[in-house]
Amino acid sequence: MAVILVTGAHGQLGNELKVVSKHFYGYDFIFTDVDTLDLTNLQQTEEFIKSTSPDWIINCAAYNQVDKAESEPEVAMLVNGTAVKNITDVIKGSECRFIHISSDYVYDGTSNVPYNENSNPNPASAYGRSKLAGEKFALLHHGSMIIRTSWLYSSFGKNFVKTILSHAKEKDSLKVVFDQTGTPTYAADLAGAIMSIVTGVIRNQFALNAGIYNYSNEGVCTWYDFATEIIHEAGLTCQVNPVHSEDYQTAATRPVYSVMDKTKIKETYNLRIPYWRTSLSQCMKLLK
Ligand SMILES: NC(=O)c1ccc[n+]([C@@H]2O[C@H](COP(=O)([O-])OP(=O)(O)OC[C@H]3O[C@@H](n4cnc5c(N)ncnc54)[C@H](OP(=O)(O)O)[C@@H]3O)[C@@H](O)[C@H]2O)c1
Repeated sequence: MAVILVTGAHGQLGNELKVVSKHFYGYDFIFTDVDTLDLTNLQQTEEFIKSTSPDWIINCAAYNQVDKAESEPEVAMLVNGTAVKNITDVIKGSECRFIHISSDYVYDGTSNVPYNENSNPNPASAYGRSKLAGEKFALLHHGSMIIRTSWLYSSFGKNFVKTILSHAKEKDSLKVVFDQTGTPTYAADLAGAIMSIVTGVIRNQFALNAGIYNYSNEGVCTWYDFATEIIHEAGLTCQVNPVHSEDYQTAATRPVYSVMDKTKIKETYNLRIPYWRTSLSQCMKLLK
């Protein structure tokens, strides 16, 4: 029976993997988070991995506070970089497969066409630099697959969808930036895609092709469009006013454009990815 270790499992993606795992029989899932496996602790990581001997590790653990990372870059680097090195130090040379999740924030956002996996990463923030460092550590293991995702949300955890909903219930109007373009990703879709890849490889439907892959939902929008759709789906009347990024100052610089080309993951693993509005609608049904 394949042993699948999921780290950072109390988070959005980790929780969605818990939900999806219930549809997959014959696999031994181990879900951990910092309370049971602190990946920044090399000794603990080594002991845990050696005692459970996972065939797969899906690393959902991360430091995701993009603005706070500007004032504590070493903490972001510890969780997003060093912790990944700890994993690969333990599994290097073994047959353990490693799926590591990264971010669209490794791109600088200066493109005006979708980024593919060959585009040069050039992060503009401390968070982006820590995620890029994590990718480099992940690739030290020959069986590593990196999935870059963007604008992740879920019915679990904290995210943009829940923030907009709570503000929209309390206020008559909101200001949301309209000059940053990307694609939301419903973590349930990403969890489904990951399990489809894992089980497809285990059943020999395809080989695990190590390397970097982009994954988000289909389509393109701005944060303004995303907020407007969330409020529309919720049946709320709050007015969304578009503002420039320069009128909404944040500590971290975010990519102006981070749309990702997903051709590689779709063709390699025979995936169909839902359109972002369709997935948002599904998540909103759970939140209502
Ligand atoms: N959220 C987004 O918008 C977004 C966008 C692009 C990419 N991503 C990437 O997608 C992946 C999944 O994100 P997510 O939104 O599901 O993350 P999340 O909800 O923030 O969950 C991350 C989990 O990792 C845990 N963690 C932190 N430090 C740890 C450690 N030292 N050892 C073990 N676990 C630790 C966190 O615990 P605490 O909460 O206690 O710290 C949390 O439960 C991450 O790699 C993230 O960088 C996310």
